[in-house]
Amino acid sequence: MTKETIQTGVNYRPDWSLAVIVSAGGIGMAAARRLGQRHRLLLVDRDEARAEEGARGLRDEGYDAISHACDITDEAAVARLAERVAQCGPFGVLAHVAALSPSMGTAERLLSVNLTGAFLIEQALLPLVQQGTTAIFIASLAAHIGDCPEAVMVEADRALEPDLLGRIERAAGAAITASEAYRFSKRALLRLCRRRAAEWGKRGGRIVSLSPGLIASPMGALEFENSPEKHRLLPMTPVPREGTMLEIADAIEFLASDQASFVSGVDLLVDGGLSAALEHAGR
Ligand SMILES: NC(=O)c1ccc[n+]([C@@H]2O[C@H](COP(=O)([O-])OP(=O)(O)OC[C@H]3O[C@@H](n4cnc5c(N)ncnc54)[C@H](O)[C@@H]3O)[C@@H](O)[C@H]2O)c1
Repeated sequence: MTKETIQTGVNYRPDWSLAVIVSAGGIGMAAARRLGQRHRLLLVDRDEARAEEGARGLRDEGYDAISHACDITDEAAVARLAERVAQCGPFGVLAHVAALSPSMGTAERLLSVNLTGAFLIEQALLPLVQQGTTAIFIASLAAHIGDCPEAVMVEADRALEPDLLGRIERAAGAAITASEAYRFSKRALLRLCRRRAAEWGKRGGRIVSLSPGLIASPMGALEFENSPEKHRLLPMTPVPREGTMLEIADAIEFLASDQASFVSGVDLLVDGGLSAALEHAGR
């Protein structure tokens, strides 16, 4: 670049690798702000206006951020996203955050966004993985508590094959609720990261999941309105409060960093000790 072509008033950091943040929502933006300290940002959301508004806000704060509209349930759109990542690379980090909570849709829609969408993203971005690339898939405490029959999980593991809901319901022996779809989809993410660690490792990459507990976020607030179960669980949390989005960003930052360079194929549970307390309740 000659002196004549250097632009002013921009935050370009061509010397940094790219962090792909899938979700311009609450935890998505918290992750973007943290990873954007050392990465260029590609902020991805189905909601084009929300993604661009998020990226514009980040640019105003000094981040090198651009947006990309993508519905992660649309295989062709995910392929276009992978092309964009290839153009903007090198691909440093994926924070895959987007999901629907149980109040946000039917069981079928939840399986499609939370499970098929995440699998499509993993599949499309794998060829771009290089030495040091890290993927972090946001799962949930829900994956750790409650029943996930193995026969159901075997079907969930095949999320890219047709008739996902039908196969899961046949394995479950009944129609499933949106809460069950949420739990199964999040447990399947843990299994995806475990199963795919070897493939990512062949290219020098790492793949992990992160399970937040009860987090003070817009999605968390919606579930508090709609789920009496959360009101029962909160007082049982050994760290007696909701977690913050910043604490999830802390964990994402750690998993993406060199400090976690030997961590792959596992889940990091960031739940203030709730799942442990539930396991040992009444003992
Ligand atoms: N808040 C909690 O208490 C809690 C607890 C456990 C896990 N989690 C997990 O944390 C994540 C919450 O993320 P958030 O705070 O950014 O949520 P959010 O609801 O604020 O944002 C989700 C974003 O995903 C986008 N999205 C929805 N469907 C999409 C699709 N098909 N393609 C592309 N984008 C799509 C939405 O437009 C939205 O911007 C979820 O994975 C959730 O399961 C949250």
